[in-house]
Amino acid sequence: MFPRDFAWGAGTAAYQIEGGWQADGKGPSIWDTFCHEKGRVFGEQNGDEACNSYELWEKDLECIQQLGLTHYRLSLSWARLLPDGTTRHVNQKGVQYYNKVLDGLLACGVSPMVTLYHFDLPQALQDQGGWKSAGTATLFDSYARFCFQTFGDRVKLWITINEPYVCAKLGHEDGIHAPGLKEPGAAAAAYLVGHNMLRAHAMAWHSYDSCYRTEQKGAVSLAINSDWLEPLNAGRTEDIAATERQLAFTLGWFAWPVFVTGDYPETMRSAIDARSKKLGCSGSSRLPSFSKDEPAILGTADFFALNYYTSRNVEAGGGCGETLCMKSDRDAGEVLDPSWPVCGVSWLAVVPRGLRELLKYIKDAFNNPAVYITENGFSQVGPLQIEDVQRSEFYQDTILEVAKAIQEDGVNVRGYFAWSLLDNFEWADGFSVRFGLFHVDFTDARLSRTIYQSGREYAKIISRYKCGQSK
Ligand code: BGC
Repeated sequence: MFPRDFAWGAGTAAYQIEGGWQADGKGPSIWDTFCHEKGRVFGEQNGDEACNSYELWEKDLECIQQLGLTHYRLSLSWARLLPDGTTRHVNQKGVQYYNKVLDGLLACGVSPMVTLYHFDLPQALQDQGGWKSAGTATLFDSYARFCFQTFGDRVKLWITINEPYVCAKLGHEDGIHAPGLKEPGAAAAAYLVGHNMLRAHAMAWHSYDSCYRTEQKGAVSLAINSDWLEPLNAGRTEDIAATERQLAFTLGWFAWPVFVTGDYPETMRSAIDARSKKLGCSGSSRLPSFSKDEPAILGTADFFALNYYTSRNVEAGGGCGETLCMKSDRDAGEVLDPSWPVCGVSWLAVVPRGLRELLKYIKDAFNNPAVYITENGFSQVGPLQIEDVQRSEFYQDTILEVAKAIQEDGVNVRGYFAWSLLDNFEWADGFSVRFGLFHVDFTDARLSRTIYQSGREYAKIISRYKCGQSK
């Protein structure tokens, strides 16, 4: 049912699990700064210690083995390796840490998938303009080369940037993620950030392609998040057009340039230009253009890395009046179908079939790429439930949808990574939202890890399919 070499994984991110925010010469990142400002994060919590995977990484390895994972997705903390963000100074203790983790994984027969950037820019680079500055892309490329050089003998699956959409929109327009900027309007910070992230990704991919690929034989992509979207009223032309626009502004924003044309989706550009004109601001400048003198964006992904959590219905309208912002540009409103259960966080309507639909869409729109589902999960809030029946069912249902996408729709899915291995620091929600297959007791000094029922279920699913494969 699943290909023999299918990747069964789980994921984490450095800031969410490592802690050790000042340990052994690590530099601060924008998430350190953000969390230490009052009123940013639920309960004034922070990732100073988190799951302390900086010291307890061997415990994480035990969890990984207990699940029977073939793959583990982790991210590197840029500021742990290069405290000021540049290769002028390398923190050897940081290198040693990731060497230990990578060697430990390989010794257990687990292949690492490594994300270079999961939301945590070195603060030193934010002080020079962060992702709004074109130069950050060049510095990212140097950092990426450093990582390929240092760890690429052991890492065969690379993700350059995780969820550029979230970094751009939540970090620079909504201000609810680090660096906490709220900059809608003519300057359109989010579009600029997305643009520099695409440039950074492409530069790193080209570096890998020309300097490391032959020897290291790995693959590089960027992780794109997208909901599955359907028109609220399937017979209403305006809703169909709004759904297309919404898809163009989320999945399309990053996938179109990389997989289809080397440029932004036409729907996105024309919507931005039209809105800009209407509100008396010159259109073309708000969504930047790619320069012909820079490395091409088209073709810079060796596979499609998809983060999928939820689905939405879309209706026309819903722009924010006379304000220049992404919401008014896309002029589409999202609606939750009342039949979808919402579990845990309010944004997470549980719709396993949406994943299958999205996989089919990706196959058709992006020329049947190899796909890794790099994130998918289910959250828990409120009283702790170790016997998390609903989450167990969620994994069963979702993995069945993936199987159908492979078998019935012919989608080339190469792997599935549950989010997350551990309960961890869930960004602005702090520790109030739990996504783990293992519960972490943050009130216990040892930060003990306990498997949830859903963890046992996922282990069973993996072992069942692995056995099926070898028959
Ligand atoms: C991020 C994760 C996060 C998860 C659940 C994704 O946006 O990549 O870091 O924990 O969603 O919110």
